[in-house]
Amino acid sequence: MSQSFDLPASTPPSLLTALKDAWQAQLERWYAHPGLYRWSLGNPLTRWLTRRRTRKLFGLMAGFVHSQVLLACVRLDLFRALHHAPATLTALAQRTQIAPSVLQRLLASAVVLGLLEHRSQGRYGLGPLGVPMAQHQGIAQMVEHNHLLYQDMQDPLQFLADAWQGGMAEYWPYAHAQTPPAPSPVELDKFTRYSELMAASQGFVVQEILSSYFFHEHRCVMDVGAGRGRFVSELAVHAPHLQFKLFDLPPVLALARENLQAQGLSERAQLHPGSFLNDPLPTGADLITLVRVAHDHPDAVVQQILQKAFDALPAGGTLLVAEPMAQPEPLSGHDDAEVDAYFHFYLLAMGDGRLRTPQELMAMMKEAGFTMVERVPNAMPIHAQILLGRKSKCLPLDLGKSVN
Ligand SMILES: C[S@@+](CC[C@H](N)C(=O)[O-])C[C@H]1O[C@@H](n2cnc3c(N)ncnc32)[C@H](O)[C@@H]1O
Repeated sequence: MSQSFDLPASTPPSLLTALKDAWQAQLERWYAHPGLYRWSLGNPLTRWLTRRRTRKLFGLMAGFVHSQVLLACVRLDLFRALHHAPATLTALAQRTQIAPSVLQRLLASAVVLGLLEHRSQGRYGLGPLGVPMAQHQGIAQMVEHNHLLYQDMQDPLQFLADAWQGGMAEYWPYAHAQTPPAPSPVELDKFTRYSELMAASQGFVVQEILSSYFFHEHRCVMDVGAGRGRFVSELAVHAPHLQFKLFDLPPVLALARENLQAQGLSERAQLHPGSFLNDPLPTGADLITLVRVAHDHPDAVVQQILQKAFDALPAGGTLLVAEPMAQPEPLSGHDDAEVDAYFHFYLLAMGDGRLRTPQELMAMMKEAGFTMVERVPNAMPIHAQILLGRKSKCLPLDLGKSVN
């Protein structure tokens, strides 16, 4: 692969990391001891831990089957079909045209995965994980979309050697182009496809932002990489006093225009087609938002976007960055960190962006000039974490002197 990827900065070794190394080496020796497995299963105090670890490893091995069970249920439209309407194997076999003896394997698998559950009289209904699948079309669309990544990764070593040969790289027209491609009909179709997917999948992220940040003090919000304008549409209802600016590539903003018109928001929203690779960001907003934008791009581009956002804001203005972020190092192996693996591979297949930790993004925001950079706590960080930075109202020291 000709492209070189950004590496996260490594921290210099300290006494603490040396002690941690020694402890981890000792743990590894204990785990590798031939008698430990049987001993720990025989001990009621440790049995749960060994069982849990074994289940987890089995889960890793079998994970591809789990996601294909999910995909099969989506393609057969089982979640919507069973929502409020449990059905028997026979009825489902008729509906799906799959032989009952085979379909029951799928249904049994979906039950143990929590997607479906058994109901009375031999019927199947939605399980706890099936309910959100029925209610949020965006999740089903992402499951279908992830099939591209699944295909790209069929030979994982070939994928690592050349990640951009597959369908995911092809799907994202801007991810490999310094200058976004001219909008030929084929390219236009790609912009429409990804913008629809983004709008469908943005709902959870928007909820995280709206329920975590107070927009009251702002006057005008510019959403950079605004897509079809779903975030702006929902924020417009949430905070009716706000005016808006949307910045995105021209074909995407053409879609946003239709969407905003349909919602009666044309008067409150100005469209600014352009590329943050080549154009400055327009001024006039006192809050700039970057929602699921930075992780698509390499460090140099992200730094450039942050700098342009800083330049476009007035003194006292605010930048809000919201996207999935990596777990910091100490949490590796923790259940919450498992989603990172998905994003690492997704972003590699897509282009030269990467998943960053909040600390990395905060350092980049400070580098661009933002002060009071902080994390906004939110309820469901798996959808997005949120960072804020302010453009200081203080004059630079030497300029302050000349004013006095
Ligand atoms: C992953 S999508 C996120 C869209 C939306 N913010 C969301 O969360 O659903 C990234 C957005 O950045 C836009 N984008 C990519 N490259 C761009 C560029 N050079 N200039 C302006 N916008 C760009 C894309 O068109 C797309 O709408």
